[in-house]
Amino acid sequence: MKLQSVELRVPDVEGTARFFEQVWGLSRAGNGAAVRLRGTAGLPYIIELERGAPALRSISFCGTRAEIGAEREVTGPEGERYRFVLEAPVAPLAAQRDRPIQLSHVVLNSKDADAAERFAIEELGFRLSDRTRHMSFVRCNRVHHCIAYARGGFASLNHIAFEMADIDGVMRGIGRMRDAGFPPVWGPGRHGPGNNVFGYFVGPHGGVVEYTAEVEEVGDDYKVGGPEDWKWPPGRTDQWGVSNRDNERIGKAEQAFRWA
Ligand SMILES: [Fe+2]
Repeated sequence: MKLQSVELRVPDVEGTARFFEQVWGLSRAGNGAAVRLRGTAGLPYIIELERGAPALRSISFCGTRAEIGAEREVTGPEGERYRFVLEAPVAPLAAQRDRPIQLSHVVLNSKDADAAERFAIEELGFRLSDRTRHMSFVRCNRVHHCIAYARGGFASLNHIAFEMADIDGVMRGIGRMRDAGFPPVWGPGRHGPGNNVFGYFVGPHGGVVEYTAEVEEVGDDYKVGGPEDWKWPPGRTDQWGVSNRDNERIGKAEQAFRWA
């Protein structure tokens, strides 16, 4: 099973789609009532945009019949909508190191992250990888996390992360975003849990998006870390310490997309 897509509602579907296509590096995957965009991997789409006030509609996972059973929609304790769909592979696009391949993970703000984590493990069958003071990281395959729940005090979309081929791809993406007037609000840097490289931005749709690469893969023997295992020295928020985090802009953007 893997994370397939995020379905969003945005006021300006065309403008948002143009950004994702011309600046962020996705490709159009078809126009219907909603606009769909894809990465270079053989997934039908990874972002769906429907017109409306900003909202998070659902997070979709895909897999074989053996992996997901029947197609279904599951609602979490804070209105989280998880969809499980049968995989419907399409031909991959030519790989380009500065273009997103697929989604890497989604982070949700939760009123009660412990309850959200429990639901993911007990009802969705995910596994806990790490728990820090701020977040619980869960996985649905070998990738360290497909979802993380942040202790936000409210339920909303924290950010959507897109997988690049490597660190060079992340850096090139950061450069392209800077050229287009979207300098990073955090990064470049390397996270603790998951050990992935990152660059975070606030897109023109008002939500936070991340380029990432090199997310750690873990096995059944992975030792679940706790808050004591993931502490930074004062003033640091990542392993490198070369960039600042714009807490004010990120904090605002993390509240823009509530569950529909
Ligand atoms: Fe992330």
